Amino acid sequence: DSIKVFCPATVANVSCGFDVLGLALDTVGDEMTLTKTNSGEVRITEILGQDLPLEADKNVAGVAVKALLEKGGFKNGIDIKIDKRIKPGSGIGSSAASSAGAVWAVNHLLGTPFDTLDLVRFAMEGEKLASGAAHADNVAPALYGGFTLVRSYDPLDIIKIDAPAELHATVIHPQIQVKTADSRNILKQSISLKDGIKQWGNLGGLIAGLYTQDYALIGRSLEDHIVEPLRAILIPQFQEVKQAVLEAGALGSGISGSGPSIFALSEGTENAEKVAEAMYQVYSKTGIEFDIHRSPIN
Ligand code: HSE
Repeated sequence: DSIKVFCPATVANVSCGFDVLGLALDTVGDEMTLTKTNSGEVRITEILGQDLPLEADKNVAGVAVKALLEKGGFKNGIDIKIDKRIKPGSGIGSSAASSAGAVWAVNHLLGTPFDTLDLVRFAMEGEKLASGAAHADNVAPALYGGFTLVRSYDPLDIIKIDAPAELHATVIHPQIQVKTADSRNILKQSISLKDGIKQWGNLGGLIAGLYTQDYALIGRSLEDHIVEPLRAILIPQFQEVKQAVLEAGALGSGISGSGPSIFALSEGTENAEKVAEAMYQVYSKTGIEFDIHRSPIN
């Protein structure tokens, strides 16, 4: 019994939704092969593409799968092979892809005893291992697809948000590593009422814009007055990229997850291509290596 799965990269936060909003990229992700065995053990048998721990307790996929098996009282063994195409520390949900993909596949191998919300809980154990924080804004879109909102963490309540079919994401990934744990440590633990007002206004605006396919509203809601100003210093040419993509026709842009990737949203493939070109123009002058990904969101 074996299954091969695609595990999508994800953009968390989406500017105004720190720790609550995320979206899945259709075209970027890892591949994993999971096999049910009689060994009674969870084993990471192979990791291609990256140097990551093979020890199950130190690997996000291993930890997430163990949480699932334990909760269900399953005594099965699971072998996990990971073809890691998303680099750790990229800001597009590398750890989430592994943990979400692994629990989805194991649930399937066991005859789907758990629902998607349960799978999010198990995958969050992997996120806790990766960054010290069990945030769900990457694992939820990885498991549900499209746009998701974590309405509440306790109790966990996740809403899948309808997004317009023509909405595209373009993401530039500068090849520098930013650890989520580090970029969480630089955040302040309290915010002003004034900043709160701006943020929940934008979050409501973004959700309304997604449901009503109001691209202009989506664009003007892509603001973050709380986290982005503190993290932007970690990302070379951040403001230049933001400026360039707006000029190229993006609806808006921001830091993808905890960075260093920068995302932009746009209407239609043609605009997404122009945005990718604008990102390319800014970064090709820096001497920093980078990748650019384009993807529809649904
Ligand atoms: N919401 C998380 C953070 C996402 O910004 O720290 C990490 O990918």
